[in-house]
Amino acid sequence: MMSISVNSNSSNVIENVSSFEIRVQTPSDSQAVDDLTMAVFGAGMFARAAYALREGIAAEPELSFVACKAGKIIGSVRLTKIKWGDDTVLMLGPLGVLREYKSLGAGKALMRKAVETARARVGKGEPNAIILVGDHAYYKPFGFERIEAAKIKLPRPADPQRVLVCDLVANASANYSGVAAKLE
Ligand SMILES: CC(C)(COP(=O)(O)OP(=O)(O)OC[C@H]1O[C@@H](n2cnc3c(N)ncnc32)[C@H](O)[C@@H]1OP(=O)(O)O)[C@@H](O)C(=O)NCCC(=O)NCCS
Repeated sequence: MMSISVNSNSSNVIENVSSFEIRVQTPSDSQAVDDLTMAVFGAGMFARAAYALREGIAAEPELSFVACKAGKIIGSVRLTKIKWGDDTVLMLGPLGVLREYKSLGAGKALMRKAVETARARVGKGEPNAIILVGDHAYYKPFGFERIEAAKIKLPRPADPQRVLVCDLVANASANYSGVAAKLE
C-alpha cells in the first residue's frame, strides 16, 4: 500500500511516497537530470516538437521536480513557459522515470506535484493552462484533454491525439489558439 506523508523536517523535501521522495530540482541536480533524460528518451528527443519549444529556455525553477530514491535521482519533470498564440502557457516535459524504477508511482507523484504547484501559482500572473505532448491515457487522470488539432500549430509534427491541455482554471484555454512557440 502506497503512503504519502509530508515531511516537515526538511524544507526541501516536499513529500515522501513510499520509499522515494519528490522535491524541487536544485542547480546541483542538473547533470543527473540531463543524464536521466538522455537515458530515458535517447537522442530521438531532440527531434520532437516539445523539445523545439523549450530548447535553450530555462524551465521554471519552482516547477522542476525530481524523484529520489536513496539519494539517487530516479525521475524528473519540469514545466517551461511558452507562447500559444497570444497567450503564455506552461509546457510540461520531459517527464521521465528510469526504467529500473518504473511502476513505483514516481511518475504519477511527479505529475501530481507539478500540476498542483502550477495551479497554486494561478492568479499571481502565472499561466492558467499546461500543454504537453504525450499519451492521453497516462495524463487524463491529472486533468489533461486533447486539443482540437485546428487550435494549435506546433513547430514540428506531432500526433494530434497526443497534444493535450490541462486547464488550471475552468475553461482557461477555451479561447486559446494559434502557433505554439518559444517564449523569447
Ligand atoms: C511514463 C513514465 C513517466 C511513467 O512513470 P512511472 O513512474 O513508471 O509511472 P507510475 O508508476 O506513476 O505509473 C505506472 C502506471 O502508468 C501506466 N503507464 C505507464 N506509461 C503509460 C503510458 N504511456 N500510457 C498509459 N499508461 C501508462 C502503467 O501501466 C502503470 O499502470 P498501473 O498503475 O495501472 O499499473 C515512465 O514509464 C517513463 O519515463 N517512460 C518513458 C518516457 C515517456 O514515455 N514519458 C512520457 C510519457 S507519455
